[in-house]
Amino acid sequence: MSQSPLPRCVVVIPAGGVGTRMQSAVPKQFLDIQGIPIIIRTIQTAAAVPAVRHVVVATLPSHMTYLAELLDTYALDHCTSIVEGGTDRRSSVARALEHREIASADVVLVHDAVRPFASCGLFERVIEAAHSHGCAVPVLPVTDTIKVVDATGAVVETLDRSTLRAAQTPQGFRTEILLRAHASYDSVNGTVTDDAMLCERNAVDVMTVDGEVKNVKITKPEDIAWAQSLVD
Ligand code: C5P
Repeated sequence: MSQSPLPRCVVVIPAGGVGTRMQSAVPKQFLDIQGIPIIIRTIQTAAAVPAVRHVVVATLPSHMTYLAELLDTYALDHCTSIVEGGTDRRSSVARALEHREIASADVVLVHDAVRPFASCGLFERVIEAAHSHGCAVPVLPVTDTIKVVDATGAVVETLDRSTLRAAQTPQGFRTEILLRAHASYDSVNGTVTDDAMLCERNAVDVMTVDGEVKNVKITKPEDIAWAQSLVD
């Protein structure tokens, strides 16, 4: 029996942050883990997934030439394009979505540059779920009890932990759904912290798949030490 062909997938990587929480002169996505820059580790995994045809990275104007040199060094230049990032994560993703490779994709994944430990298996789960459901997000159960607080720090309420999940990336979308969600951004109120949220605001159902504990977003200085130990 012939298998159905893999969906054509393009991975968008927002890498335009300056990383103020990392307290480092070098943006966190360009820091090394055991000699390999985080951004390169992230692209290497994305590019190794069979359904992935291309990777589009949106980065800081000041780092575009350096990133091009890194892609050349690590032989990733044939499958990766660089575009200029925006002033926030959402606008960096929106700029990457203008790249010509997007039009021929069945599924677009959006993956934070600073999550280098997502596995190929996770990418594949998200691609499959996005292809069949339209939108898919990897999640983990929340183990802490979550409090909502007011501006003074006083607790307003405690949420029911059994219904809460922490969202990760890569998040996957049928291409037309993600393009429509980003096109509607100007009519969306409030801060948008991930792409699935834009879809939710467009009344698009978002399916969850199992995330991975090791798929941590490298954010703070101590995350780097932990990441070094993970690849020892
Ligand atoms: O700052 P935060 O942890 O939310 O960043 C998540 C991702 O968004 C990172 O990969 C970061 O480089 C990216 N980003 C971006 N453009 C910005 C700000 C953040 O692509 N202007």
